Amino acid sequence: MTRANIELGNVTPHNIKQLKRLNSVVFPVSYNDKFYKDVLEAGELAKLAYYNDIVVGAVCCRIDTSEKTRRLYIMTLGCLYPYRRLGIGTLMVQHVLYYVEQDGNFDSIFLHVQVNNEGAIDFYKKFGFEIVETKEHYYKRIEPADAHVLQKTLRKKGQTNGNAE
Ligand SMILES: CC(C)(COP(=O)(O)OP(=O)(O)OC[C@H]1O[C@@H](n2cnc3c(N)ncnc32)[C@H](O)[C@@H]1OP(=O)(O)O)[C@@H](O)C(=O)NCCC(=O)NCCS
Repeated sequence: MTRANIELGNVTPHNIKQLKRLNSVVFPVSYNDKFYKDVLEAGELAKLAYYNDIVVGAVCCRIDTSEKTRRLYIMTLGCLYPYRRLGIGTLMVQHVLYYVEQDGNFDSIFLHVQVNNEGAIDFYKKFGFEIVETKEHYYKRIEPADAHVLQKTLRKKGQTNGNAE
C-alpha cells in the first residue's frame, strides 16, 4: 500500500465552495459572505488541506492588531471527522507556525475554542498553546456558549530573552 499524499493548497474562487461546505460540516458556527470574501484575499493565511487530492481540511486566519499587539488569529482550523488523527491538523498548524516565524513580527497566535472541545485543546497544547482566558457567553447560538482563548506566545525578531550579555 502506498502512503497517502497530504498537502496544502490555495483557496481560490474556483474552490471556495469546497471551503464553505467543509466549514459548514466541521464547525457548529456558520460564517458569512464577508468571512469568505476576506479569505479569498488572505493569501497564505487561508489554505485547503488535501488527502489524495480530496479536500478534507482547511485553515483560515487573519491578522489582529487590537490591544496594541500584532497577533495571528486562527478563525477556523478543521478536518473532516473520518480524516482526523492522520496528521492533517498538524500540517495546517505547522503552516501557521512557519508563516509567523517567517514574518518575525507577531506577538502571539490565538484562537477561541468551545470549553468542551477537549480534543482541540489537547491538539493545540501539543504545539505550545495554553488557555489564557475563558470567555462566558462567547457563542450566541451554540451550547456550551463559553470559550477558552488558547494562545501561543512568540518572541519577535531581534528580541532577546531579557538577560544581559
Ligand atoms: C482539532 C483538529 C483540527 C485536529 O486535527 P487532526 O488532523 O485530527 O490532528 P492530528 O492528526 O495532526 O493530531 C496531532 C496530535 O494532536 C493530538 N490530538 C488530536 N486530536 C485529538 C483528540 N481528539 N484528542 C486528544 N488528542 C488529540 C494528538 O496528540 C495527535 O497525535 P496522535 O494522533 O499521534 O496521538 C480536529 O480534531 C478537528 O478538525 N476538530 C474540529 C474542529 C475544531 O474543533 N477546530 C479547533 C478550533 S479552530
